[in-house]
Amino acid sequence: MIDKETRIKVAIQKSGRLTEHSLDLLQRCGLKYTRGRDQLIGYGENMPLDILLVRDDDIPGLVRDDICDLGICGLNIVEEKRQEFATDGIDNPFSVIRELDYGHCRLAFGYPESSSLKQAADLGGKRVATSYPAIVQAYLKKQEIPAEVVEFSGAVEIAPSLGRADAICDLVSTGTTMKANRITEGETILDSEAVIIRTPLEISAEKQSWVERLLQRIDGVMQVRESKYIMMHAPKTALSEISRLLPGSEAPTVLPLEGKSDKVAVHVVCRETVFWETLENLKDAGASSVLVMPVEKMLA
Ligand code: PRP
Ligand code: ZN
Repeated sequence: MIDKETRIKVAIQKSGRLTEHSLDLLQRCGLKYTRGRDQLIGYGENMPLDILLVRDDDIPGLVRDDICDLGICGLNIVEEKRQEFATDGIDNPFSVIRELDYGHCRLAFGYPESSSLKQAADLGGKRVATSYPAIVQAYLKKQEIPAEVVEFSGAVEIAPSLGRADAICDLVSTGTTMKANRITEGETILDSEAVIIRTPLEISAEKQSWVERLLQRIDGVMQVRESKYIMMHAPKTALSEISRLLPGSEAPTVLPLEGKSDKVAVHVVCRETVFWETLENLKDAGASSVLVMPVEKMLA
């Protein structure tokens, strides 16, 4: 039995593109959980937080209905449901509180190579197949394009060859699916990534403080993803040039080197990817013994 007052419920995708990333994110935040085989709930052992593994389409509804406090899912689903709920008169079903920088994809039109359709403006009087009818409908309305939206729950890309639609509007990640179905990608109408949504309702102070801790840890995890700790020896005269070369770094720590008055040790955290080119440039600027190390945790 789940204790609703004191334990946070987080809904995540049961099996799909976001599942592994989302579980990994929670684990990097320190969560340890037990989950029986085929069980749809993961019970947090060291945090008052339980994971519900569900279909991604169901996540916004679970948060809206206050069955879950938080949900992690694609912005594409969040926006589709937001518009669907708005049509039902529910205006504030949840709020997006974090963008997670994984699960990137776009919702884009696609036109069969064999057709004369090339852009959304050509769709007047045509049928568009999509799994995102609310978003597509709203877009067509705004652009004043009188096209008919045909809802497909999956396999949208085969709708034109089945004669069920003239064009599609579907998620594109690598572009392989559209290409394989001889469909040319057109206008993007939504850029998506994984996000966290939260119930708009107030939650108990106890849970709220854990939600805040979790968010702070998530921010830390996201910051360290690209971060590196860099150490090197450098001539004192090269210090300003070296700071300039290091991407996204704060003020470096400069330490004296035993028995050397013209050289110092420089330690710095870089928050952006450190490329080989950067290291070569550092060397050219006079740095030696350059070490690059991953950062495991960071608390700003
Ligand atoms: C999405 C989308 C496309 C495919 C695009 O489906 O509906 O079929 O991914 O990806 P690509 O550009 O890398 O080829 P998904 O795999 O998420 O499954 P679903 O449609 O059943 O949700
Ligand atoms: Zn899906």
